[in-house]
Amino acid sequence: MPACYAVFGQPIAHSLSPCIHLAFAAQCAIALDYRAIETGRADFPERLAQFARAGGCGANVTLPLKHDAHLACATLTTRAQRCASVNTLRRNDDATWHGDSTDGVGLLRDLAERHAFDPRGKRIALLGAGGAARAVAFALVDAGSDELLIANRTPGRVVELVQAIDDPRARAVDWRGALARADVDLVINATSAGHADAAFDADVWAALTSRDSGTTAATSARISALAPHTACYDLSYGATASGFLTWAHAAGAIHVSDGLGMLVEQAADSFALWHGVRPLVAPVYASMRAQLAATSA
Ligand code: ATR
Repeated sequence: MPACYAVFGQPIAHSLSPCIHLAFAAQCAIALDYRAIETGRADFPERLAQFARAGGCGANVTLPLKHDAHLACATLTTRAQRCASVNTLRRNDDATWHGDSTDGVGLLRDLAERHAFDPRGKRIALLGAGGAARAVAFALVDAGSDELLIANRTPGRVVELVQAIDDPRARAVDWRGALARADVDLVINATSAGHADAAFDADVWAALTSRDSGTTAATSARISALAPHTACYDLSYGATASGFLTWAHAAGAIHVSDGLGMLVEQAADSFALWHGVRPLVAPVYASMRAQLAATSA
């Protein structure tokens, strides 16, 4: 029987992780099974235990489980411990779990490889303070960002994140503070607002459209909340990213991207942790981009 891997999350039906890992496995001639398991926060510990009992060797987790996954691990890499977020689990010999976070390095690699963006010396606004945001926040500060302005719907979570980063370059701001700054080089959406047809909270959209009173982001072509050199990036992909990316285009972002490249890069690092070999990312990225285009056509 092939070794068994899975991605846990909710919602999970849209996830490209099974396709990505099966493509990496074919490339490396490794036999494995990789499935998507729909699981909310309440059920996650039991579903993970069931998966381990059934012989599961490794797992990815996505929203809203990255913090819970960190709590479920007996051992953690230093980077996962720092950001209290886990997206990759590997079963230890004693059937406990070892946790890592490859989101931060996945984002940095995608920014470098596909967007020629070097965070060194840059001012970055980060929207969100959940599991994914925590991972990329630490990575961006470590990579040399000059300033990281973090805003979140629930202010307490962002205060906690800034305290954990403990670096004067990382600061908590409100939505307007994150977006109305003329000197921000990159705005990253790390919220899950695009999932399950949720919209950004009214306050968030008000800030996003703050320089164009009375219109919504979706309908106005006159929105210019961003400086001419500001790029925008959504950590998610497909329909989930479309609300933010539509706003970014309308706001005149110089460069706009979804997080498909980050997804494939973080998956390659998970794959390397499990199988000891980092697969070639470029062909799998091209194939996932084509698959996404075909499903949205
Ligand atoms: P992930 O693993 O993707 O980070 P998460 O840990 O559940 O998932 O975090 C979700 C993030 O999206 C949080 O920052 C959340 O804000 P809260 O801390 O206030 O819950 C944010 N979020 C979710 N829905 C949102 C919405 N409709 N508008 C704005 N932010 C939203």
